[in-house]
Amino acid sequence: MQVIEKISDMQSYVRKCKLDGKTIGFVPTMGYLHEGHLSLVRIARKRCDILVVSIFVNPTQFGPGEDFDKYPRDFGRDKKLCEQENVDIIFAPSVEEMYPKDSVTYVDMAGEMTKVLCGKYRPGHFRGVMTVVSKLFNIVQPDIAVFGRKDGQQLAVIRRMVSDLNFPIEIIGGETVRESDGLAMSSRNKYLTEEQRKSAPALYKSLLLAKTMIENGETDSSKIVERMRDYISNSGDFKIQYIEIEDAGTLVPVDKIRNKVMIALAVFLGETRLIDNIVV
Ligand code: PAJ
Repeated sequence: MQVIEKISDMQSYVRKCKLDGKTIGFVPTMGYLHEGHLSLVRIARKRCDILVVSIFVNPTQFGPGEDFDKYPRDFGRDKKLCEQENVDIIFAPSVEEMYPKDSVTYVDMAGEMTKVLCGKYRPGHFRGVMTVVSKLFNIVQPDIAVFGRKDGQQLAVIRRMVSDLNFPIEIIGGETVRESDGLAMSSRNKYLTEEQRKSAPALYKSLLLAKTMIENGETDSSKIVERMRDYISNSGDFKIQYIEIEDAGTLVPVDKIRNKVMIALAVFLGETRLIDNIVV
């Protein structure tokens, strides 16, 4: 395994792979890897010759006052984990390498998809994600790239962007990996106190509650959301940012459930913002 920090080195490596007829698989991450990330690495590993994992905490997707500075980082540990998974290249550029001082171009999306759910509460977040992912796609030039369904809106936005901008890349979605009590794995779970960690599984339980309601014939989104709110509020010191039910493909909010929907939530547990979703 090789660690590459310079964009030009990554691009010349890729050029050589392409000349040799090798396919490239890519898993972009912000590091502090856990089993959720590694499940994506395993999916990609099976589908390509050369596997690239990027580790880059991307400043442009964090808002002012968000956790960019304290975002957990442990490159030594990440490196070992990647080695164990037979990753070929870790691409780990510096912030200066990715965003030189004179860089002024961003990728953004019109329409509602980036304005709902997390986009509503984290203005500029998806612009940062789309910009960095576009840059990484141009640098790594993968044939396939794997993203987690845990960040359901991010996956939908990336799929839309790839289609709109004609990136010749197949996007693959990986299932959400959870702790044994149901809490979705996240690098941010590290922020939770012991007590908060104990109450955190209530989020997934509320999603399962919603699933059961739908399976039993409930089609009224507001009733389901209300039930989830009650459940979460009674399960610990949660501050709900949103609970929403949206069309799973377009992310347009739905009042009456008829087709595949994504039930998504963002909740503060103390200072820590947790997100989760399921598709029903
Ligand atoms: P990060 O939060 O590090 O996540 C990297 C990838 O891992 C994303 O595709 C995310 O959806 C996936 N992931 C995280 N937790 C998961 C879980 N429990 N199960 C399955 N997959 C999981 O998402 C980002 O970084 C950034 O926005 C990035 C795409 C790298 C752009 O900066």
